[in-house]
Formats: sequence, C-alpha cells, structure tokens
Amino acid sequence: MRFLIVMTLTMVASLSGAQTPAQAQTAAAVPRGNAENGKKIYAAYGCYQCHNYAANGGGAGPRLAPRPIPFPAFSRYLREPKDQMPPYTAKMVTDQEVADIYSFLMSVPAAPAASSIPILNN
Ligand code: HEC
Repeated sequence: MRFLIVMTLTMVASLSGAQTPAQAQTAAAVPRGNAENGKKIYAAYGCYQCHNYAANGGGAGPRLAPRPIPFPAFSRYLREPKDQMPPYTAKMVTDQEVADIYSFLMSVPAAPAASSIPILNN
C-alpha cells in the first residue's frame, strides 16, 4: 500500500513537472506578433536610424538582434529608456506594434559560425 502511494505521488509530481511555471510564464510573456509588419514599422518609426536596418547596431544604438533581450525588458525599455534613446509611448507605438517589432527581431537569423566560412579557415 505504501509503495502504491509513493508511486502515485511520484507520477503526479512528474506529470505536473512537464511544464514548469517558469516555462509557462516565458511563453505567456512573449505576445504573438507579425514579423512582416514589425519589419515595416521598425523602418517607419525610425528604429533603423540608430540600430541599423538589420538591427545589428549602428552608429548610435546597440545591436538588437539576433537573440533580442527578453520581451518584458524590451517593451519596458521602449516605454522608458534609461539613457539616450528617445521614449516611445503607447500613443506612438501600440502594444501590438511593440509585439510586431519584437517578432521581426526574433526572426533575424544568427550569423553563421566563422568555422563554416571556408575563406576564414585557410
Ligand atoms: C535616436 C536614436 C535611437 C532610435 C531612433 C531608437 N533607439 Fe533604441 N537605443 C538607442 C540607444 C543609444 C540605446 C542604448 C541605450 C540608451 O542610450 O538609451 C538604445 C537601446 C535600445 C534597446 C535596449 C537594448 C539593450 O540591449 O538593452 C532597445 C530594446 C531598443 N533600443 C529598441 C529600439 C526600437 C524598437 C526602436 C524603434 C521603435 C528604437 N530603439 C529607436 C538609440 C535609439
């Protein structure tokens, strides 16, 4: 009987462990965005002027992609930048548009590894 209870508890624990609260939160924290529209408004709202069209950093702003910072930090920074970047209020860039820009940044592919470029390995 005792064995059975232990087995049951172990099974329940492993089932509920399938998705930890942290993972669920991460998925919920990244809203669904439209990368194509994000790319358009990234250009239209002038992000490229400081962060470059490829979002890999420019003269004034740092690299935003590939692998952008987590979404909560991203949207917070847009609303309340801490240093030289101008703020983008919800009137200028809606929450949906922030999600679209983020989707665009997520879609930027990582650069190939140097070891995969033949001329760099001569
Ligand atoms: C006038 C130049 C300028 C424009 C336009 C601009 N940024 Fe920035 N951005 C910066 C600078 C400079 C920083 C570095 C921190 C600072 O000085 O505020 C920054 C930082 C950021 C960061 C934080 C990066 C990190 O790693 O912490 C994000 C996210 C960001 N910008 C997104 C955007 C988006 C999206 C747009 C367009 C809606 C935009 N920026 C438009 C200049 C700009």
